[in-house]
Amino acid sequence: MAKEKVFIFDTTLRDGEQAPGASLTPQEKLEVALALEKMRVDIIEAGFPASSPGDFEAVETIAKKIKNSAVCGLARCIKKDIEAASLAVKKAKVPRIHVFLATSKIHLQYKFKKPASEILSIAKKHVRLARRLCGDIEFSPEDATRTSKDFLFKVIEETIKEGARIINIPDTVGYSYPLEFYQLIKDIFNNVPNINKAVVSAHCHDDLGMAVANSLSAVMSGARQVHCTVNGIGERAGNAALEEVVMAIKTRRDVFPGVYTGINTKEIFKVSRLVSALTGFVVPPNKAIVGDNSFRHESGIHQDAVLKERTTYEIMNPKDIGAAGENIVLGKHSGRHALMKRLEKLGLALSKERLDFVFEKFKALADKKKEVFDDDIIALAEEEMKITSEDIQLEEMKFTSGTNITPESFVRIRHKNKELSAVSAGDGPVDACFKAIDKMLKIKPVLINYKLDAVTKGRDALGKVRIELKLKNKYAVGVGSSTDIVESSVKAYLNAVSRLI
Ligand code: KIV
Ligand code: ZN
Repeated sequence: MAKEKVFIFDTTLRDGEQAPGASLTPQEKLEVALALEKMRVDIIEAGFPASSPGDFEAVETIAKKIKNSAVCGLARCIKKDIEAASLAVKKAKVPRIHVFLATSKIHLQYKFKKPASEILSIAKKHVRLARRLCGDIEFSPEDATRTSKDFLFKVIEETIKEGARIINIPDTVGYSYPLEFYQLIKDIFNNVPNINKAVVSAHCHDDLGMAVANSLSAVMSGARQVHCTVNGIGERAGNAALEEVVMAIKTRRDVFPGVYTGINTKEIFKVSRLVSALTGFVVPPNKAIVGDNSFRHESGIHQDAVLKERTTYEIMNPKDIGAAGENIVLGKHSGRHALMKRLEKLGLALSKERLDFVFEKFKALADKKKEVFDDDIIALAEEEMKITSEDIQLEEMKFTSGTNITPESFVRIRHKNKELSAVSAGDGPVDACFKAIDKMLKIKPVLINYKLDAVTKGRDALGKVRIELKLKNKYAVGVGSSTDIVESSVKAYLNAVSRLI
């Protein structure tokens, strides 16, 4: 039996980027897109061009640069959205527009205040318009899993008639469960007369932790495209994780005998770490496939068995996702080349300039720490990757703090080639430094989140800080690391502030 391909539609740069705090610059989006192309993702949803000039620019740049994956832009059923998406993806080798419109009763009643008949004609009209502008149209009836089936079948049939070539079924609020989603896809195949003219796709959210299970059920039911994101990032609880969907299909060939994906799974680990570094979203250690503990064995019984025969406790080979263990620890005698190779292995290929900076920081760290671990290197690279040429630089900081004294700080920074400095008091040394920065820049962002982690074990560990700030309606994430946690905090604050202003 000839196997059928399940197309992997990656929406890390659109739905993934909708995760609060995950926003990426156009340059960062391009970096991720190139890594997705290398992993052989079939379609890259690069963004929502009408949503902002930055997103338009990102989609357009990605469309021009990507050669081996289709590039897709999202559009509501609004003329200007479709025109923006069409313009942004025009230069792609294989351009696609993804048009969506909610079809569930609850969305019709509260969001649109329009009857179903009107929604149907809006969908038809805009798919027709999109089809005139682009050869490859995907249509999503948003909130499909809470839409009345008869209406859903009708919308699908009519949008296929208007030229939609892919029908994507979103479980927008992550409400469905595997048997139900399986049946829904089956019902679509059995009740939409022209469904053979389209590819059926699944787009599942993880609100009940079933995004991957639902996506796989859809594949069992005949869907041949799956929407997913790297590390499962996305709106609210996230989307189906690409690495889980792909590795489930690969590992359980017995359950999915008739299908395959074209993903080069050896790139999975690298892409996971790249997305984590750029979004600042840490991969939980117990995350399936790409978590640090996924291939670690703690109990003696397990360790012993794995040494005798790996498959006793490992259903996948870490090499298959490009996560083979590395036993050489870098230290102060390691050179620039060794660092570069290790970074590449970790999925963090840096430009020459960035590598120079990371190497400098690495040498400084290696002087303080006996052994520099992969997690240390990742933290240094992440910090560097988040810094742009417009970033405010920390030149100097001093603080006094202790019991029964008011903490005070002095901070000197470089901003747009000007040196600025200020002193301030605060609740603690970190707060005093933040206030000094606010004073210099005449801003008052709200601190939404502050997280400090020791990157590795030991007293000499790097402290990595991740900060989320809000200023008016702008939102930014910053990261910073140092063996001094006040310095990590100040670096992270400046990194986020640079993005805000
Ligand atoms: O979750 C959803 O419904 C979406 C649509 C835009 C497909 O992301
Ligand atoms: Zn979604």
